Amino acid sequence: MTSTVHVNLPGREYDIHIGPGVLDQAGAQIAAMGGRRHVCILTDENVATLHLAQLQGALSVAGLTSVALTLPPGEATKCWAQLERSVEWLLGQKVERGDIVIAFGGGVIGDLAGFAAAILRRGVRFVQLPTSLLAQVDSSVGGKTGINSPHGKNLIGAFHQPSLVLADTALLGTLTSRDFLAGYGEVVKYGLLGDADFFDWLEGQGSALAAGDMDARVRAVTRSCQMKADIVQRDETEQGDRALLNLGHTFCHALEAATDYSDRLLHGEGVAIGCALAFELSARMGLCSQEDPSRVRAHLRDMGMKVDITDIAGDLPDADGLLALMGQDKKVLDGTLRFILARGIGEAFITSDVPPDAVRTVLHDALARR
Ligand code: GLY
Repeated sequence: MTSTVHVNLPGREYDIHIGPGVLDQAGAQIAAMGGRRHVCILTDENVATLHLAQLQGALSVAGLTSVALTLPPGEATKCWAQLERSVEWLLGQKVERGDIVIAFGGGVIGDLAGFAAAILRRGVRFVQLPTSLLAQVDSSVGGKTGINSPHGKNLIGAFHQPSLVLADTALLGTLTSRDFLAGYGEVVKYGLLGDADFFDWLEGQGSALAAGDMDARVRAVTRSCQMKADIVQRDETEQGDRALLNLGHTFCHALEAATDYSDRLLHGEGVAIGCALAFELSARMGLCSQEDPSRVRAHLRDMGMKVDITDIAGDLPDADGLLALMGQDKKVLDGTLRFILARGIGEAFITSDVPPDAVRTVLHDALARR
């Protein structure tokens, strides 16, 4: 079973092909895009060990030669030094305007390679071959590319849409359970922000999905990509609606900063905890029913995910400390915290009208749930 989601951005439209085995179409799909019959791949050591031979085989079947730069795995790779290394390597490979760069990996490689493609010769085409669930449902779609700064995550970057995305759901089989569930945090986010029926379906099918049910995986990735495509088509550069995709992220970014962006908390885990907190805050502000945050928390718990701040190992700042970290988030506008809250499951909205005291109380109570 495979599916296709079309991202309809005039002049920059592209397809996302989803399903087990779509990686094997990489050669035929990329050859059909024209350009030099030699492609450059940016990947990381883990993905290269597991899957690079399969990709290069698929490319050569279609008559494409390829060469790969293998970067270290992990968030620290999204830095100036690795960007410089990647861009200089691509220039050394004589990549020209009409050529294609392949991003083969999770969110780190997708963001870095996409940004390298955005600035190389003022922009070359790139193809996203996402290998993690998080990258398949979120970071490979929509054209946000970039690296981190010592001042914060994703502060340096560009909007640069890929020309094609191939999300091979068979590759998800090599993820650790922790990485899979972190990506699932982003899947749940889509149901919570805009599709109550999808959330209902996830409540029923989530365990099968985690256990490897391929049809369920394809369906979940497809629905997530379709929702993201719909939002990106309305608001490519996040002037409005695209911020809905940040449900849970204001809390998440504070928690990621508090844990030094280390593997104490993976991004998708922070998103899941952040979504639960956003619903808690919404209920306390009388925007949604008290049952909604309980339902969100129950599903995350059933999936064996982190749900509470206190599920994060080690010490954390107090409520005021976390609130101060939120103030440094790039989603702060004119000093006002911007939140994505909800009137119910599937009914998220953007607001700056959130009393800091309400946030402080939610954080304080969450920290006390030890
Ligand atoms: N990950 C959020 C966005 O792409 O806008």
